[in-house]
This record gives sequence, structure tokens and C-alpha cells, in this order.
Amino acid sequence: MVRETNLNISNLIAPIFVRHGTKVVEPIGAMPGVHRYSIDQLPDYLGRLVEVGLPAVLFFGVPLSKDEMGTEAYSSTGIVPQAIREAKKRFSSLIVAADVCLCEYTSHGHCGVIERGKVDNDRTLPLLAKAALEYAKAGADVVAPSAMMDGQVRSIRNLLDDSGFQDTLVMGYSAKYASCFYGPFREAAGSAPSFGDRRGYQMDTANSREAMREIETDIREGADMIMVKPALAYLDVMAKSRSRFDLPLAAYNVSGEYSMIKAAGANGWIDEKRAVMEVLTSIKRAGADIIITYFAEEAGTWLGER
Ligand code: PBG
Repeated sequence: MVRETNLNISNLIAPIFVRHGTKVVEPIGAMPGVHRYSIDQLPDYLGRLVEVGLPAVLFFGVPLSKDEMGTEAYSSTGIVPQAIREAKKRFSSLIVAADVCLCEYTSHGHCGVIERGKVDNDRTLPLLAKAALEYAKAGADVVAPSAMMDGQVRSIRNLLDDSGFQDTLVMGYSAKYASCFYGPFREAAGSAPSFGDRRGYQMDTANSREAMREIETDIREGADMIMVKPALAYLDVMAKSRSRFDLPLAAYNVSGEYSMIKAAGANGWIDEKRAVMEVLTSIKRAGADIIITYFAEEAGTWLGER
């Protein structure tokens, strides 16, 4: 009766990795329990998530081949549009979101195109917008730009509006930090940068006022939802964002946060189930409305048991 924070299954989004091929359900070494799915294997998995009661998924693509320009990211026949079409065809009420970035698709692993050894922010914008448009055309309800290019939300919003997709939502990865906790994801998506790092475009761990500016900018550019990422080491940023902004606030409980709990749980060092529920409840307590988490299926199951 006096509990202030109630975690609900309707708060959770399950990230899903999709890849080419058939009959593939491929385990990801650094993320026990998480797999890459080929399209034919998706309906089974999505069916399980829907059965548990999860409202939404977020797709990440592993392309057939990578190139300098990240071409598959914005190809209508790319792996993510295929996954979106399949998901929407089979489960029309499932909310389908798609990550919009180039890093999974570029040979150099950076989130934007490279010009003279550096990421070129402005040349990347039309490519991100084109990717978002392809995902919207495939049926995505939400596009989520994660490249941290300045102006990405505006470029995407403008192209979507001009193309008749006014109702497609943009969830900005507004305050995305340059974090070591993305390590396992980069194995999952094969997206580690081949030179340098992402500190030129992702945020410095030490800054929280800058996060407010990043969020404000995304809102001004037309974001429908905002995000703080990662979640756990940035709960102060979450709380501050909550008190400052009224838009739906998402938290990304990232791969490294997942794998730490999995590793400690597997070793018997912590009680995995309690750790998961404590962490997710804390993220909500800090102010998040929406939590993107690799624990979504398990946590959803546990929430249903109570
Ligand atoms: C793409 C992207 C990343 C994550 C989400 N979108 C990787 C990165 O920025 O390196 C990380 C998610 C996770 O660690 O779970 N830019």
C-alpha cells in the first residue's frame, strides 16, 4: 500500500538482434541468454514475448556485409526492415521500434561516415534520416536514433513528416554517454570501432548539465520521447531529467549492465532474480517511464507471477 514505485510490464522494451540466414538462433558469448535471430525464427520468439505480456521490442540489425557508408542501414531490403515487416505482420498490436545508427553497418564501426579520418556529422544526417524513413515505411511505430550526431532528430523528423509519416514517433537517445558498458553489445552487433573511440560524439561520463542541454535540443528538434543511456551509473541524470522535462523518459539498461548481473548470478555471487528486480525498480524510481532491458522477458515473467 505504501510502495512508491511499481514496476510494470508495460514499462519494458525488449531489444532484439536480427541477422541474415535461416534457422539461426545464435547465442551471444558476452550476453548469456541473448541471441541473434534470423527472420524465420522471429515469430516464435516474438510470440513468447507477447505471451508474457511485453508491449514493445527494439530491433538492432547485423548486416550481411559492412562498407564505408553503412549502406545496409538504409536499404529497404536490409535486415531491420525485414524484421519490422515480419513483426508487424504477425503481431499487429506489438509496438515495434528500430534503432537508427550506422555503426553496425560500417566497415570502420563508427556511427557516422568518415571524412579525412574523422566522423563527418553533417554528411551522416541524411543517411540516418533515410534509414529512419525505410524503417517507418516497413511499419515501425518508433525510430530511435542512437548515433549521437548533432541534428539527427530534426533531420529524421523532417524527412518523416515530408514523406507522410507524421505519426511515426522519434525516441531520441538524447543523453548517451561514451560508456564501457556497451562492450558486450559491440560483440553482439560486431560494431566496435576499428580505430579511435566514440568520445567525439558520445558524452563525457563526468557531465550532467550537458545531458540537460542534449535533451533540450532533442525536444526542440521534435523528439517524442527522450532517453538517458546507460541507466545505472547515470541514475542522477535520470532523476534530474525527470524533474526537468515532461516527455516520456526512457532508460537503456545496457548490455554491460546485463552481463555483470548474469556473470555474478552464474557464479552464485548474487541472487540474480533479486538483482534484476532491484535494478529495474531503481531505474523506475529514478524517473524512467520506459526501460529498455535485455531482462525484459525474464522480468516480465516474474512480474506476471506476483
Ligand atoms: C548504436 C548503439 C549502441 C548501443 C545501442 N545502440 C552501441 C554503441 O553506441 O556503441 C548499446 C546498447 C547496449 O550496450 O546494450 N550506436
